[in-house]
Amino acid sequence: MNFVYVIEMYLENKFLSPGHVNHSIFWKNLAPVREGGGEPLKGSLGWAIDTHFGSLEALAQKMSAEGAALQGSGWVWLGVDKELKKLVVETTANQDPLVTKGPSLVPLIGIDVWEHAYYLQYKNVRPDYLKNIWKVINWKYASEVFEKECPLRLDALPGASCPL
Ligand SMILES: [Fe+2]
Repeated sequence: MNFVYVIEMYLENKFLSPGHVNHSIFWKNLAPVREGGGEPLKGSLGWAIDTHFGSLEALAQKMSAEGAALQGSGWVWLGVDKELKKLVVETTANQDPLVTKGPSLVPLIGIDVWEHAYYLQYKNVRPDYLKNIWKVINWKYASEVFEKECPLRLDALPGASCPL
């Protein structure tokens, strides 16, 4: 086993509980291409992303840029604010879960930007990892969480990401 990987897993698991939660989401966020990984979005999350960020490509670029710029280890997230009905992109340090950035934030996509997540394939080139990860993102899972947290509502706030 890779030595750096072992050390990083040890350090990461000092934050055992949130680390476990973050990774549980991350594993659901990924799917091989033959199982729908990278397949474009349909449904209300696709609509919300287009409305809020312009396009799925624009969102991917934003998340990749913010993940690449994050100092040290951490996560980059696409979440939904279930109170404000808005999509958000956030980063968290170490193993901090998305909820540390706001009590009503629910993660849809969380991308691990600890070096062990990409070192074997990309060495220390985090931007290449973030450029390619979109080919295996499981949008179906993210859509299911979004639709649960942000069901069709007639009383959605003006400007909200949630479809009317
Ligand atoms: Fe990790």
